[in-house]
Amino acid sequence: MMNKSVSPQNLALVIGSGGGIGAAMLAQLGGDTNYSEAIGLSRCTEVSVNYADESSIANAAEFIAGLCETANLELRLLVVATGFLHGDVGQPERSFGNLDAAYLAQVFQINTLGPALVMKHFLPLLPKTGRCVAGFLSARVGSMGDNALGGWYGYRASKAALNQLVKTASIELSRRNKESICVSLHPGTVATALSQPFAKTGLNVRPASEAATDLLAVLAGLKPVDTGCLIDYQGQKLPF
Ligand SMILES: NC(=O)c1ccc[n+]([C@@H]2O[C@H](COP(=O)([O-])OP(=O)(O)OC[C@H]3O[C@@H](n4cnc5c(N)ncnc54)[C@H](OP(=O)(O)O)[C@@H]3O)[C@@H](O)[C@H]2O)c1
Repeated sequence: MMNKSVSPQNLALVIGSGGGIGAAMLAQLGGDTNYSEAIGLSRCTEVSVNYADESSIANAAEFIAGLCETANLELRLLVVATGFLHGDVGQPERSFGNLDAAYLAQVFQINTLGPALVMKHFLPLLPKTGRCVAGFLSARVGSMGDNALGGWYGYRASKAALNQLVKTASIELSRRNKESICVSLHPGTVATALSQPFAKTGLNVRPASEAATDLLAVLAGLKPVDTGCLIDYQGQKLPF
């Protein structure tokens, strides 16, 4: 048990730290003097987070809560960098004729249900006083106001639903801590496994390290008034 008369140190946590953007964010947080510790969790870490199994999310949250208690840390930054666009189960739909229940179930499980369960188990760990930030990786294509091209039904809908969850959680968090900030983030088009098949010429595809630097700068500059918003890597608020 730590001596609680010593001020707690700041912990940053990245869920989805095995992904392109998550790994880059964790690497940079490791050298960020605002946090005395940066921890990553993914399906491959010893304490794992797998959205197919809620108990893994609950166990991971218990592990972080225990660590905060024993090491006198406070969870000041939570980044959720998980996501799914394509895989064995299917590809993003070009037309409503391509809608497929198995693909829709997968895209919603990873982009919407998983982050919702992360909210359930990890948001209670955020401190009740002082600035704390939760950032959920979403996507501009989840914006209805910005949807001019169509296509990608499941991915768009799963991210739009995530944005609603983030907005709703931001209201509840603000009631328990007026300095809390909970946002959806658009990282731009980033060179990762998720975007690789779709990164056609003409798109501004940026390295994950650049996206991570931008996103961490945006997160560091957010104020409580920004909570509940969908914000891009340049700090611009996007329409829902
Ligand atoms: N790349 C882009 O151009 C782009 C553009 C807009 C938005 N985004 C969003 O940015 C976020 C990060 O994407 P990325 O490009 O870094 O993708 P990525 O490299 O494919 O990483 C995806 C991450 O999701 C995790 N994941 C997948 N299935 C999971 C499951 N069942 N349970 C738990 N975790 C699971 C992976 O975990 P493991 O490490 O365990 O495999 C990995 O950490 C996503 O939300 C994505 O939608 C990306």
